[in-house]
Amino acid sequence: MSDWWKDAAIYHIYPRSFQDTNGDGIGDLPGITQRLDYLSWLGVDALWMSPVYPSPMADFGYDVSDHCDIDPMFGTLADMDALIAKAHRLDLKVIMDFVPNHTSDEHPWFQASRSSRDSPKRDWYYWKDPGPNGGPPTNWLSRFDGESAWAWDEATEQYYLHTFLKKQPDLNWRNPEVREAMCDVLRFWFDRGIDGFRVDVAYRVMKDPDFRDNPVNPDWTPDMDPSFRVHETRTKNIRDAHRFNRWIRSVADEYDDRVLVGEMNLKIPELVDHYGTPEAPEFHLPFNFRLVFSPWTAENVRALVDEYEAACPDHGWPNWVLSNHDQPRFATRAGRAQARCGALFVLTVRGTPTLYYGDELGMQNVDIPREQVQDPWEVLSPGLGLGRDPERTPMRWDATEHAGFCPPDADPWLPVGASARVQNVALQRKDDASMLRFVKRLLALRSEHHALRRGTCRTLTAPNEVLLYERAGEADRFFVALNFSGSAQTVALPQPAQRLLSTRMDTADVSVETQLSLRPNEGVLLRAETNRP
Ligand code: NOJ
Repeated sequence: MSDWWKDAAIYHIYPRSFQDTNGDGIGDLPGITQRLDYLSWLGVDALWMSPVYPSPMADFGYDVSDHCDIDPMFGTLADMDALIAKAHRLDLKVIMDFVPNHTSDEHPWFQASRSSRDSPKRDWYYWKDPGPNGGPPTNWLSRFDGESAWAWDEATEQYYLHTFLKKQPDLNWRNPEVREAMCDVLRFWFDRGIDGFRVDVAYRVMKDPDFRDNPVNPDWTPDMDPSFRVHETRTKNIRDAHRFNRWIRSVADEYDDRVLVGEMNLKIPELVDHYGTPEAPEFHLPFNFRLVFSPWTAENVRALVDEYEAACPDHGWPNWVLSNHDQPRFATRAGRAQARCGALFVLTVRGTPTLYYGDELGMQNVDIPREQVQDPWEVLSPGLGLGRDPERTPMRWDATEHAGFCPPDADPWLPVGASARVQNVALQRKDDASMLRFVKRLLALRSEHHALRRGTCRTLTAPNEVLLYERAGEADRFFVALNFSGSAQTVALPQPAQRLLSTRMDTADVSVETQLSLRPNEGVLLRAETNRP
C-alpha cells in the first residue's frame, strides 16, 4: 500500500471546458491528454475528471446512459486508454467520476425498468403507487427545482423517484443486482488502470427504507433554494449511507492502491464518520467542502482547521477542496486579492488538496448572458444564483481567440470571458511573479518537504485577521501566515524563521524573523530557523 493519495495534490478537470481538439467548442479526452504535460510541469499528482461517459447531457454527464464507454463528444475508449497510459508515464494518477445515485432515463436499465411493472429490472429503480392523497408517495423534493422528486409514468401508472432531474431516475441500491452491476462498473474501470473514483453525492444514495416524509423546514423563504423547503433527514446521510460506502470500498480494496473520494456536503462531525472504522473502512477521502461553503475569514478558517484536526480519526486522512464545478470559484468567493492566500492554505494545511482547473491562474466566475445559459439548475430555478455555468467556463491557455481552448473559428460552449486576454497560462508562465509560478513553486516545496505533506498541523496565536499555523515533521518545522486583510499586520512567531515563499513572489529577502511583517493580503511560508545546519 503506497497511500499515494495522502501525498498527492489533486487537479479537478471539467472535461467540457479544458481543451477542445476537434473544433466542436467542447473539451475532449485528446485535449486532456495533450495538456497532461502542463499538469506535470505544474507539479500536481493526480487528475480527477467529471463524467465522460455516454450521456444525453441533461446534467452535462451526471446523467449516465452507459457506464462502460466514453461519450463520442469526449472521444473513445481508446482515447481514454491513451490518456491513462500517458498520465501514468508522467507519474500522474487518474481519477474518474462514479455516479451511483442515478442514471439517465435513457440508460437501458431504466428503459427496461419502465417498460412494464413485470420487468425484471423494475425494482432496479424506485417505483411507487400514489400516496394516500392520490399525489406523490412522499414529500421528497428534487434538488434542482424544489418540485416533487416523484415523476408520474403514464404507461405503467406509477411514480418513479428522481432526486435530481426527471431525466435522472434514482437507482435502488437495496437491490443486490443493482449493487453487483454497479460494482462491476467500478471493476471495469479499475481493470483499465483507473486509480480511483470521486463518488457523486455518495451521502444521498441510500434513502429511508420506509419512505417517510422529510420534515418541513419552517424557516424556508422564497428567496432560498426551493429544495430547502424540507430538511432532508430521510434522503440524505441516513445511517445506511455507511453500508453503501462499505460496498464500494470493498471493491476498491480488491485492487492495490486505489482511492475513493466521496462527494458529501456535510459539516465536520458528520463528515468524519465517512472514514468508517479501521475494521470496516469507508472513504479514503470524504470530500471536505467547508472552505467552499463558509466564509473566507481568518477566524472561520482557523476554527475549521482546529475542528477538523480534532475530529479526524487516526485512521482517517484530511482533505481540503478550494473550488469545484458546482459552486462559485475561490477567487470570486474570497476576492481576487486573496486568491494566492487560498492556494497557499490548501497546499500547506494538513491533508490532500483539490484544486479546480484555473484556480492556479486565479480564475474567477464569468458572467453568463441569459441567452447563453446552459446549466439546467439555472434554467429550472432562474435568478437565485444557483446556476453553475459561471464557474465552468473554458480554461485559459493563451491570449488568442477563445483563449486557445478551441480553434479560433469554433464556438465555445460557454464564453471564455474578456479577462482571458490578460489572465492565461501562456502569459503567467512568462511572468516570474505570476500566480501560476507561485502555485508551481508551492507544489514543488510541498513535494520537497515531507513535513509539509505529512507533518502535524497546529494553529497558533495571531492577530485577528491573520491565520498562523505550524507544520512539523521529525526534522523540520514550518510556519504559514496568511493575512486575510487589506492592511499590514505584524505577527510574533514562536521562534525565528526564514521566509521560503511569499504570495508576492519577491522573497529575495530571506532574513530570519521573529516579528513577521505581512503586507496587505500577503501569505508567507517560513521555515523555522533551528533546522538550519
Ligand atoms: C453533484 C455533481 O457535482 C453535480 O454537478 C451534479 O449535478 C449532481 N451531483 C447530480 O449528479
